[in-house]
Amino acid sequence: MKTTYRNALCGELNTEFVGQTVKLCGWTDTRRNLGGVLFIDLRDRSGKVQLVVNEEVSANAFAEAEKVRNEYVLCIEGEVVNRDAENVNPKMATGEIEVMVKSLTILDTADTPPIYVEDDDKSNEAVRLKYRYLDLRKPKNQKMLKTRAQVASIARNFLNDEGFLEIETPILGKPTPEGARDFLVPSRVQKGKFFGLPQSPQLFKQILMISGVDRYYQVAKCFRDEDLRQDRQPEFTQIDMEMSFITKDDILPIMENMIAKIFREVRGIELETPFIRMTYQEAMDRFGSDKPDTRFGMELTNISDIVENSEFKVFSGAVKKGGSVRAINAKDAQGRLSKKTIKNLEKFAAIYKAKGLAWIDVSDGEMKSPILKFISEEEKNAIFERMDAEPGDMIFIVADTDEIVCTALGQLRLELAKKLEFDLSGKFNFLWVIDFPLLEYDAEAGRYVAKHHPFTAPLDKDLPLLETDPSQVHADAYDMVVNGVELGGGSIRIHNQDVQEKMFKALGFTMEDAWKQFGFLLEALKYGTPPHGGLAFGLDRLIMMLMDIDNIRDVIAFPKTQNHSCLMTDAPAEAQLDQLIDLGISIDEIL
Ligand code: AMO
Ligand code: AMP
Repeated sequence: MKTTYRNALCGELNTEFVGQTVKLCGWTDTRRNLGGVLFIDLRDRSGKVQLVVNEEVSANAFAEAEKVRNEYVLCIEGEVVNRDAENVNPKMATGEIEVMVKSLTILDTADTPPIYVEDDDKSNEAVRLKYRYLDLRKPKNQKMLKTRAQVASIARNFLNDEGFLEIETPILGKPTPEGARDFLVPSRVQKGKFFGLPQSPQLFKQILMISGVDRYYQVAKCFRDEDLRQDRQPEFTQIDMEMSFITKDDILPIMENMIAKIFREVRGIELETPFIRMTYQEAMDRFGSDKPDTRFGMELTNISDIVENSEFKVFSGAVKKGGSVRAINAKDAQGRLSKKTIKNLEKFAAIYKAKGLAWIDVSDGEMKSPILKFISEEEKNAIFERMDAEPGDMIFIVADTDEIVCTALGQLRLELAKKLEFDLSGKFNFLWVIDFPLLEYDAEAGRYVAKHHPFTAPLDKDLPLLETDPSQVHADAYDMVVNGVELGGGSIRIHNQDVQEKMFKALGFTMEDAWKQFGFLLEALKYGTPPHGGLAFGLDRLIMMLMDIDNIRDVIAFPKTQNHSCLMTDAPAEAQLDQLIDLGISIDEIL
């Protein structure tokens, strides 16, 4: 990165440079004037170095340096010298040396920054995002940007070596119903018509397989108009891939190798491959989640058989209605959860539709279980035995439909891990969740909908059920999960027109509907389609995982807030009246 302006980078200087004259450029991180001697920490992308501007060495440089304030941009020339032993700063990467300045030029001045450009700056997020360019100057954010670029580069190199071609697909596409809502872009040339921004390049990448590309990838921007959460943004990036003449057993190892390479090169962590494969059913039964966090136990245990004839109607009733009663054992939790916390856990379970949360304090400690009066001694003992209960444990029980029981206990398990402060740091538990249900029943629409998308292939063995009992059909789909986060997902696609028609029938689509929405793909499928499948990783989530960051906004250069705003540019914004007229759009007054 040597240029006319500089011949070295601040953060790369060390004792090997002692005696050399260097030219450096950067921002003023801190400045201290000790009268006659001025210390400046100069910062560039690589880090910081201490400059010493001594009036006796250069009166001109000193006079300029006196004008310097934080975030001024400087260009200096000076000699690298060893610091005196007592001035060595072990906290600074360049702490053994400093630069004796011979000349100093102010390249640009700066207003007083509204945030502190340092990692432990506590400014509120709205201010940081408004001044994102200052926020990005912080070392941790520079590291984040560097890691993102590094990961994309490792992925590209890996995929290039595996024979993938990087191909761009359109951003202005056809609105298509995928999982979320589309962002629409009005067409000026064809008034009244709209482009949809891609929720993913799904249909294009399948068409590329029909085009004979064989292996495709793209670091793709995706757009989904959905409510945001901790790990969701309206525009985000996928490492998106598709392959031909391939099965799940070919795809999963390729993906494992790519992720293992990224973890090795970025974190120096050797992941154990192959990753465990767990069916959706097992994940729900054991962890109450289709993205199980397997870093700790506290697994769900079915106790329906023990309580099916219980006098406690909440339990026996749930089993009789076809639901279940399940429990988790929070080992050694007694005394670590206050009564108030337990009350809050009941409220927490209610978020996931549990009508109640029963608990038993195993050693009959101070807190009396509210259900002991309802269940027999025999039932209690059988539960204790099944749950491997020991004095000090607390057992939590939910009775309801399977779905509510599993989801509520699965979430409770995660909440308890937080409340009990499990130490989960440094663990990366990767696994594949496979054999998802192909369809989900949408009670509101009164029909089945595709759990992934309508082109996901059913497992071969379940094909006959597609016409007779669609709810029992499993998809040849797979998600890569790590520590309770879905990092990526994909599937083998339907490449046979017959199966595709059956799928549309199961979804309650007439062929006419299907053609209206996906006609171009259906047409393409007629002209010779190879068996194919693929997967997409969420790049942002991958960076979160690699850098132990829990907010997706902190891994994106210019993120959006909860209400989809960019606070720096003030997007979205009103359009000019003449733009709207050109587009044939009028805006209803919102009162
Ligand atoms: P899917 O919808 O599962 O699959 O998305 C793949 C991965 O993208 C990430 N992701 C997101 N990241 C941030 N913000 C969001 N709003 C968001 N939504 C998804 C997740 C997820 O695992 N076309 C299919 C892939 C395929 O079948 O090949 C798809 O998009 O990490
Ligand atoms: P109730 O008779 O409704 O007061 O319930 C008695 C106890 O059973 C309370 O501690 C409830 O939290 C618990 N309980 C009620 N419904 C359920 C349920 N569906 N699953 C688990 N426990 C429940």
